Parts: sequence; structure tokens; C-alpha cells
Amino acid sequence: MKLANVGILVPSPDLAVVLRAQISATGLGTVVLDATGCPRSRSDMVVRRFLEARPEMIVVDGHDTAAATEAVRVLHTAMPAAWIIVSTSILDAQVILEMVRGGAREIIPNPATQASLAYALQHYIEEREREHKSDSYLHGKLYSICAGKRGSGATTVAINLVAFLSEIPDSRVALIDLDWPVGDAAAYLNIVPRFTVANALASAVRLDPVLLESYMHKHDRIHVLPGLETFESGQFLTPDPLGQLLEVVAQVYTHAVVDLPPTLSRELVQTVTRVSDTILAVLTPDVPSLRRTERLLRFFAEFETPGKIRLVLNRAKKTDEITEGTIEKTLKHAVSWKISNDYYACAEAINHGKTLLAGSSKYLTRDFREFARQLAGFEPEDKRRGLLNLLPKTSSP
Ligand SMILES: Nc1ncnc2c1ncn2[C@@H]1O[C@H](COP(=O)(O)OP(=O)(O)OP(=O)(O)O)[C@@H](O)[C@H]1O
Ligand SMILES: [Mg+2]
Repeated sequence: MKLANVGILVPSPDLAVVLRAQISATGLGTVVLDATGCPRSRSDMVVRRFLEARPEMIVVDGHDTAAATEAVRVLHTAMPAAWIIVSTSILDAQVILEMVRGGAREIIPNPATQASLAYALQHYIEEREREHKSDSYLHGKLYSICAGKRGSGATTVAINLVAFLSEIPDSRVALIDLDWPVGDAAAYLNIVPRFTVANALASAVRLDPVLLESYMHKHDRIHVLPGLETFESGQFLTPDPLGQLLEVVAQVYTHAVVDLPPTLSRELVQTVTRVSDTILAVLTPDVPSLRRTERLLRFFAEFETPGKIRLVLNRAKKTDEITEGTIEKTLKHAVSWKISNDYYACAEAINHGKTLLAGSSKYLTRDFREFARQLAGFEPEDKRRGLLNLLPKTSSP
């Protein structure tokens, strides 16, 4: 295994000797530079020494909290790819947050121990290997869900689509809640958000897979980026940060589902249509939904996305007065998937903070499983069965 090149920034040469010995004893890193001082700007001599030595990882002694926070900020700006670790005894969440915002990737106790350094080095090495693998990784698929009319089931479809996508072997799936002014996905999954999409958008310029994952919340196999929590945080929803966020999402996850708000500016729609592989417009079999979906399709058509928009007919019943045929004729657009109507199963899932994977509705399970499989490029189940039927039945007794 290749050792990590480490640089250390400490207040005194004595401490540098101790840290050097501890890092070397981990067997995971080699110190390429030790420096003393408190860099205040990129042009400081100490920063230049770091730039020349190019360590992959920098350990900053955080004995003096204010100086360490400033050093992290300056070093991160000068060397955004370096993995900065701060050794501090401070437990104040606000101070830690400042350090993380400035670019610290890891906080370890002060004084640092061989064990804490080994842990941090191991974490860095694993991330380096993962990033290396993900460079050769296929760009993940992004599916954006919208609806012309509120209450059509966009969030229900988003949550359950991602849940059933998680069944696909080797998938890594994410749900990104962009609804505005307040997102519902976290509440539907009984997640208490520590971070929201506002945090990810606010740090979009320096967003990378590691930072993105630190904002995600786990729900079974689904990684969730919760939606906005306050009305004013909608200010973060602007095209460039959104594009950057979704690009990183596609680097990390094989499949990501985005719950869109029903109204978006032209610039935001442009960004969404550019980065999404498919846009799923959810509608219900009633006149107001049909009318609004017609407007929605017209709006999206301006952004030249032929073939990207697919219709999902939610809450479909055999007895519907407005049939699939009528919808397709009116909208001049095929209905790609139908999801059965089962209010009890949907309400039960929401009330228990679960997805329909664990649900009681065999129809919804069937519909979402097939929907997810087809969207991910698998053969429809009936076709698969058809092919299997052609095989000689050698296994039957
Ligand atoms: N297939 C379905 N069968 C029965 N009820 C459903 C179905 N899909 C959604 N619902 C119900 O419809 C209501 C609205 O669903 P949901 O919140 O997913 O819609 P939405 O389009 O995201 O709404 P909003 O526009 O407010 O974000 C919920 O009570 C949900 O349980
Ligand atoms: Mg919703």
C-alpha cells in the first residue's frame, strides 16, 4: 500500500518531532514537511513551503483555536485537494463547524495520539482508494421528478422509486429533495435533518464526494439529502450551485432521484434538464392535473428535451373515467409507467417513516419494482418471463 504523504503545522519544533515519530509509527504515512507558524495568507512563506512539498494530508495542531481555524482556511484555499486534519481539545460545535467550513476533513483529539493519527490516516487512504475507483466509475443516472399540480404524488414517487432502485445489485442510491419552500422527503422518512440541501448548495463551489456524503442522511440503503427547512433558505436554489451539486451527486451514486418543486425559473429548468438523464412528470387521472401537465410539458419543451420527459400516471385505477388512452391523446405523449392507487398503504408508509419496500400493498410493490427496473435499463418483467418460457424445462421433475 502506498503511504500517505503528510505535512504538519505545529507551534513548536519539539512538537514536530513528536508528531513525526507518531505518524511514522502508524506505518500509514510519511512526513514530507514539518512547519511552524500561523499562515494568514496564501503568500506566507509557510504556505509556499506546503505548496512545494505537496503533502496529500496536513495535520494542523489546534492548540490555539483561532490560529488553527485561520490556518485551515488559508491552507485549504491554497491546496483544496489536501486532506486537512485538526488536532484540538475544543468540543464547541460552532468552532468545529467553522473548521469544517474552512476545509478541515477530520478532527482528532489534542494532544494527538498514535491511535487517533492511525485512524485518520486509514480513513484518508480508504477515501483515496474509493475516489480512485470512482474515477473509472460510470457517471450515475439522475432522474428528476416533477408534477404540474401539487399533491400529485411527486414525493411519494421519488421516495419509492429510489427505494426500489436500491434493490438493484451494486447500486448506490440517493434522494435529493429540492422542493421549495420546504421539502417533505425527510418527514416522510422520519429523518431529523442535521444538514439540508441548503448546506450543500451553499458550499457547492468546494463540494466533492466526501463533503457531499457528510451532508447525507442514511435511511436503510438510501442516502437522503433533506430539503429546505426554512422559507428564506430558498435563496440558495440558484443554477450554478445546483448544477455543481447534481454533478457531484452523479459521481457518487449509481442512481439519484431528485424531487423538484412545482415551480422553477427558466434558468433552473435549464440546469435540471441539462444534468438529468430523465425527467419524470407525475400526474393523476383528473382534469386539473391533465390541464397543468399539458402546460408543464409545453414549458419543458422550450428547453429542447425531446425524449427526456416521461409521464408517470399515479393513483391509476381500472375504473378511472379519464383513461390512459385519453391522457395520451390529450397530451400527445405516452404514459411510460402507471402506479396503482392505494391511499391506505401510502399513508401507512408515511406515518411509520418507511418506504413501500416494507409496505403491505402488493400492487404498489409490483408497480414500483417494475418502474425502477425498467428505468434502470432492465428488461420488463413480462418480457423476461416470456424469454424464460422459451427455455427447455429441464429442471422440472
Ligand atoms: N399511488 C398513490 N395511491 C394513493 N395515495 C397516494 C399515492 N401517491 C401519493 N398518494 C398520497 O397523495 C398525497 C400527496 O402525495 P405527495 O406528498 O407524495 O405529493 P406531492 O406531489 O409530493 O405533493 P406536494 O406538491 O405537496 O409536494 C399523500 O397523502 C400521499 O399519501
Ligand atoms: Mg412533495
